[in-house]
Amino acid sequence: MAENSIIYINGEFKPLAEAKISVLDQGFLLGDAVFDVVSAWNGYIFKLDEHLDRFEDSLRATRMNCSLDKEGWRKAIIDTVKLNNLKSASIRFIATRGISKEVIADPRDNSPTEIIWVAPYVFLADETGRKEGIKLMISHLRGFTPDTLDPRYKCVDRLHYQLAKMEALDAGYDDLIWLDNNGHVAEGPASNIFIIKNGIMYTPGDGILRGITRQVFIDLAKTINMEVNLCNISTFDLFTADEIFTTSTAGGALPIKEVSGRKVKDSVPGTITKKLDSLYWRLRESGEGSTLIN
Ligand SMILES: Cc1ncc(COP(=O)(O)O)c(C=O)c1O
Repeated sequence: MAENSIIYINGEFKPLAEAKISVLDQGFLLGDAVFDVVSAWNGYIFKLDEHLDRFEDSLRATRMNCSLDKEGWRKAIIDTVKLNNLKSASIRFIATRGISKEVIADPRDNSPTEIIWVAPYVFLADETGRKEGIKLMISHLRGFTPDTLDPRYKCVDRLHYQLAKMEALDAGYDDLIWLDNNGHVAEGPASNIFIIKNGIMYTPGDGILRGITRQVFIDLAKTINMEVNLCNISTFDLFTADEIFTTSTAGGALPIKEVSGRKVKDSVPGTITKKLDSLYWRLRESGEGSTLIN
């Protein structure tokens, strides 16, 4: 992490070492905060509007009274990226419920802490993983589900993600996938999942964070006349898929070579995964759907 990075915090731009939050911040005390991550590649921030809309939904649903509106967040994000002088970056923007005024505070009365952190672009996997595929473990833990906290809240409260990740790494896997409460495949801690079977694409329709990259891949698949089904997927479908990949802002499509001990049938990455990923990167480099940093 660049020590000289500049952080946006509550209307000010500060060097990382000086950007501090209070120990009474409810983001820290209670994990009461929402965030989003958008990325820039070669000077273009991809799908900024879509990320801002998703963030705004999280803010409305959590009743955070931010000082910045959508346009304010957009401007602050672009300014922070420029100040950090990065053309390819991972840009995290966060709103916490702010400083607790009492030991037990009324959450309706809040002045959010607003933060933007720009780091060099990161991929979810290293180069070998991106080229040859990674191994996913089906976690025994569950992600958020609509009957507890709808996964569309993009919230920072991710203890169960950390626990599941440690278990997956200890077991020799690279990452994990959650099931929902009915045993259907949901998503990964930072990615959505797709399978290809007999030339048809499938991805879960509900009980997931609506990944911005997921939607881009759905749209790209349609441009090459692929049938796309948003439906329940079981672990059996994962074990018998021709191709599997995950999608995220951190790298587009990531090929999967194994799920809980079952190797994926076709050579990894599969032809459709490769095709869609190259369309994705072409789109990113074209600047279409992007905001130019200038
Ligand atoms: C739980 C979860 N699912 C899916 C994703 C992928 O979303 P996106 O494509 O918008 O990066 C993320 C991203 O961080 C996530 O946290």
